[in-house]
Parts: sequence; C-alpha cells; structure tokens
Amino acid sequence: MRNVLVTGAAGGLGKAIVKKFIEEGDFVYVTDLKLEDAETVAQKYAGKAEALALNVADSDSVHQVIEYVIEKGPLHVLINNAGLQHRDKIEDFPEEKWDLLQDVMLKGPFLMTKYAFPHMKEAGIGRIINISSVHGETATPEKAAYVAAKHGVIGLTKVTALEGAAHNITANAVLPGPVKTPLLIKQLKDLEEQQGLSEKQALAKIVYPRQAMERFIDESEVADGVYFLASNSASAITGETLSISGGI
Ligand SMILES: NC(=O)c1ccc[n+]([C@@H]2O[C@H](COP(=O)([O-])OP(=O)(O)OC[C@H]3O[C@@H](n4cnc5c(N)ncnc54)[C@H](O)[C@@H]3O)[C@@H](O)[C@H]2O)c1
Repeated sequence: MRNVLVTGAAGGLGKAIVKKFIEEGDFVYVTDLKLEDAETVAQKYAGKAEALALNVADSDSVHQVIEYVIEKGPLHVLINNAGLQHRDKIEDFPEEKWDLLQDVMLKGPFLMTKYAFPHMKEAGIGRIINISSVHGETATPEKAAYVAAKHGVIGLTKVTALEGAAHNITANAVLPGPVKTPLLIKQLKDLEEQQGLSEKQALAKIVYPRQAMERFIDESEVADGVYFLASNSASAITGETLSISGGI
C-alpha cells in the first residue's frame, strides 16, 4: 500500500483520481482548499483516505501538510491537481486573477515538490504527476493566465524529472482535454450568459473545432492515465507529457 497525496482532491478530476488509487489498494490524502468537500470525499473510503485542508499557494500550509503526512509514513505519490480558470481578454484580465492562477497552478506544484522532494529523495522513491492541460501545449483566446501556467508546469515537470532521476523519482505531466467538471461547466455557462451561445455552440467554439473525437473526456479516463504514470509499468517514463484529450 502506497501513500498518495492528491491536491484539489474535492474537485471533479480529483475525486476520480482518489477513487482510482483507493480501488487499486493505496491510501490517499484527500487535500483541498475546501476542507468540508474533502471530508465528504474521504468519508466514502473509511480507513483508506484522510481529508486535509491545504492551500497549495501558501508555503506554510504546504509545509505543514507535507510534514504531517511524512510523520505518518513515506509519501510515495504526489499528484498536483488543484486548479481554477478565469477568462478575459488580456487587456481586461484582472492582475489579481493572473496572480491567483499562477499561484495555484504553477507556484502550487513548485511548493508541493519543494517540500516533498527532500523526503522522497531520502526514501529513494517517488512519483510526481502534475496535471497540466492540453492548454500546456496549445492556446485559446481569453485564457492567458491558464495557458501560461499550464505551459509553465510542463517546464517544472521536466526540471523535476532531471533532479529526481538519481533518486528513483519520476515526474510527468498529464494533459487532459475537456472533462465535464465544475471548472468546465462554469465556462460553458459563462459563454451561454455572455455570448448567448447554447452549450452545443459553446462546445463547438472552445472544444470541438480541434478535437478528433468530438466528445468530453470522462474523469475516469484521466484517472487511469495518472494511475499508469504512478505504476511500476511507468518506471522508465520521466519528464514526459501524456495527453488524454480525445485527439487534440
Ligand atoms: N475539467 C477540464 O476540462 C480540465 C482540462 C484540462 C486540465 N484540467 C485541470 O485539472 C485539474 C482539476 O480540475 P477540475 O476540472 O477537476 O476542476 P474543479 O474545479 O472541479 O476542481 C478543482 C479543485 O481545486 C481546488 N482548489 C482551488 N484552489 C486551490 C488551492 N489554492 N489549494 C488547494 N486546492 C485548490 C478547488 O477547491 C477544487 O476542489 C486542474 O488543474 C485543471 O486545470 C481540467
């Protein structure tokens, strides 16, 4: 049984990742900014999961959580999944939203890795999986902060892979396509309200024009890819990106 920590674990993708690792026999720290939501998730898996409050953008919070987890045993798998979206044209993009998105989705994985790395190195084992996005390699208008952070996290992953290699630590990035979680549902709703687009039109505008499969990705399809990268089957894979996007 491995110890796994998932950030943003109360969200759509986070919940599916938690479920997959627990089904495969691991113990999962279900961490999220929203403790109550994390507790709701963890309660489903008595004895196999523990909910913890964690703000990935706050170094004190990150340090405390990592030390708490390490006190109980080695941390084998770290999944940096917390995220959020904000859409605006660059000239209208609020600076505080830019900062927030970078803090959660770029500085967050950096802080988590910074505090987990020494323990993983000491144990001589570790798997780090950063949830980037197809927006880590492509762009959509009005998502400057998101696209920049998701590109950045691929760079962070590559450096982590180089620094971890001698210590049997792998680091990889997963690039999901459109998954119908609250993060995407909000965007579809905003497009409907602001531009009068139906869900179908909004999908065609922000998703389908360049996706081969023309469908949403199921949360479980992303969780399976994350699990693969944390499994023994992926022991020689590091510094890579795995796109789970339906062909974007
Ligand atoms: N849904 C998609 O289509 C999609 C596509 C590609 C990538 N992603 C990425 O997948 C990840 C999960 O997204 P999701 O779709 O499940 O979104 P979601 O909104 O359902 O869940 C995100 C979770 O992150 C948590 N969170 C936000 N700020 C945090 C912070 N500072 N510290 C800790 N937790 C915080 C939220 O409370 C929430 O539970 C994100 O990194 C997102 O960018 C999602």
